[in-house]
Amino acid sequence: MKAVILSGGFGTRLRPLTINTPKSMIPVLNIPFLEYLIKRLKSHKVSDIALAVSYLAEPIKNYFGDGSRFDVKLSYTVEEIPLGTAGAVKNAGGFIDEPTLVFNGDVFTDLDLTDMMENHKRNKAMLTIALTPVEDPTSYGLVETDSNNRILRFLEKPSPDEITTNMINAGTYILEPEVMSLIPAQTNCSFERDIFPLLLRNKEDVFAYPTDCYWMDIGKPENYFQVHYDLLNGKSNQYHFNNGRKKMVTGTNCIIHPSARISGTVVIGNNCIIGQDVKINGPVVIGSNCQISNYSIIDDSILWNSVHVEPLAKIKHTIIANDCHIGSGSIIEQAVLGNNTIVGYGKHIKAGQLVSPNTIVS
Ligand code: GDD
Ligand code: MG
Repeated sequence: MKAVILSGGFGTRLRPLTINTPKSMIPVLNIPFLEYLIKRLKSHKVSDIALAVSYLAEPIKNYFGDGSRFDVKLSYTVEEIPLGTAGAVKNAGGFIDEPTLVFNGDVFTDLDLTDMMENHKRNKAMLTIALTPVEDPTSYGLVETDSNNRILRFLEKPSPDEITTNMINAGTYILEPEVMSLIPAQTNCSFERDIFPLLLRNKEDVFAYPTDCYWMDIGKPENYFQVHYDLLNGKSNQYHFNNGRKKMVTGTNCIIHPSARISGTVVIGNNCIIGQDVKINGPVVIGSNCQISNYSIIDDSILWNSVHVEPLAKIKHTIIANDCHIGSGSIIEQAVLGNNTIVGYGKHIKAGQLVSPNTIVS
């Protein structure tokens, strides 16, 4: 089987993070999101994978290269200007010469791809869309079906008064190659707003594949936290937190002061230093090469790599990207800090703040 993964869009809701890091490379428990997806594809015997990238292709290429490290064949198509979800797939050219999987590159799910493909073939479908239930469909694509799972209507980002079902587009599709002829070349075109409604108007065989397996779009700060909580609580079959035995997992070369108090579930990368009387109240994830200095408190937060927290700082329900420096005695609550942020001594970053990369808060 073949797959195309979409990696584009600016990820406006995670903006301080996605200015330097494409959404698909955002770490989930210290591992790039895309690594989970590629390993899952491999486990379903999908090893010919095209990445349709509209911005920041280099970090993806640098990490995954030609895919050989993951025993898959990876190719890249890079858009000069974003072409939209369908335009990006069209840009992959002749790659789609058989029924092909297409993935939004920001959805963490346990969807059974082999079963979905069998379903697609059994229905002789032109297009199959995976569906998942959500509480509030307004941020997603609403999908109405009949009792045979034939799709009747597709409505992207419905307003509250347009909600007729809680089933939404889960961001995984199987396309027959014929669909490609409906997508204009080198033109911005959306599956959700243009091609899916067009297929339905043309009365093509468009089927749903509904499941209630684990599913989360990581593209909002709260969802990004939630995927961490869920994985640490064993809700996905793609991550087994230390086989449920211990509450803390550390990488290599970490120095944790014996007086540090660590509670809840905590994941720490390599080469980290945790100082005297530091409190870490999980769920907390700390990347590699981080230093948490004496008497600081880290509570329910996600720190990426090379974050230096000076003494007596308090960090709560916050995401801190790479290479940030947090001054002593500062207090940061419910914030998102982009790469290379410097927070001065004793500063207070209040709830809801999104701090752009390279900002100096002084
Ligand atoms: N290459 C490329 N080019 N990729 C793109 C482009 C583009 O111009 N625009 C968006 N993408 C990628 C994004 O990076 C993401 O992986 C995926 O397409 C979906 O875009 P989002 O911006 O994350 O859309 P959304 O989350 O608001 O809605 C989509 O996903 C929902 C499920 O999470 C839609 O497909 C909804 O219908 C769906 O319910
Ligand atoms: Mg999304």
